[in-house]
Amino acid sequence: MNNVNVTLNGNNEKIDILKNINLAFENNKIYVITGPNGSGKSTIAKSIMGIMPVTSGQIILDDVDITGKSITERAKLGIGYAFQTPARFKGLKAADMLNLAKGENDTDICQLFYDVGLCAQDYLEREIDTTFSGGELKRIEIASILARNPKIALFDEPEAGIDLWSFQRLTETFEKMHQRYDTTIIIISHQERILKLADEVILVSDGTISEITSREKFLETISHIDSDCACRNDCIKGGAMNVECN
Ligand SMILES: Nc1ncnc2c1ncn2[C@@H]1O[C@H](COP(=O)(O)OP(=O)(O)OP(=O)(O)O)[C@@H](O)[C@H]1O
Ligand SMILES: [Mg+2]
Repeated sequence: MNNVNVTLNGNNEKIDILKNINLAFENNKIYVITGPNGSGKSTIAKSIMGIMPVTSGQIILDDVDITGKSITERAKLGIGYAFQTPARFKGLKAADMLNLAKGENDTDICQLFYDVGLCAQDYLEREIDTTFSGGELKRIEIASILARNPKIALFDEPEAGIDLWSFQRLTETFEKMHQRYDTTIIIISHQERILKLADEVILVSDGTISEITSREKFLETISHIDSDCACRNDCIKGGAMNVECN
């Protein structure tokens, strides 16, 4: 991403969602993008996938400028995005979706279900409609990206709504993907266990990249942050309860 800006028209003013984003992603690395709610993480993923058009700047894939390319073209070039909030597809069975996603890939559908912690025979024939729970839907969405085995795999908060047992399986799945393939894995996450998988942690705040660091450094830094304490002190403004925050 070269100098990427995303600006939207608000009611009376322009809103800068992404400001001058410069990021380089290498093959066979895991990147974890983290940062506060509303800071622009999903917008970064959507601008790479082509869902959110950039106002200025370029998205380059393997030396080719893909900024003007459609979502479908980018998907064909090997970019895959698992949405933070996946869509439901009435009339489409889970097995159909994964078969569509895998295309010519030599991937076993049952293994994909296993990789996201679902028992295949319970889900193969079920429609991806409103009867799916949030966590089930999320896992089918992640499985569809695994099925495609893209060159660049973007997972937007894969942990959201996923139970502890399936979460463990999911982290192992990301590790396995990392070991087996050359994939660039970009995971948007707030979870320490996901952060521990990262080769690099990208901290986004207020539409900018505020830090790119190793997981060790990042985990050391957050262990010192006590935002509740700072927030309480700001609110009390020098009152009797004001204490020193670490
Ligand atoms: N289409 C849109 N129209 C108006 N504002 C938008 C639009 N898309 C995103 N935003 C705003 O841009 C900011 C960044 O949104 P984004 O979804 O990228 O945040 P995020 O870092 O992924 O947050 P979260 O951790 O809650 O998922 C937010 O303030 C959001 O309200
Ligand atoms: Mg988001």
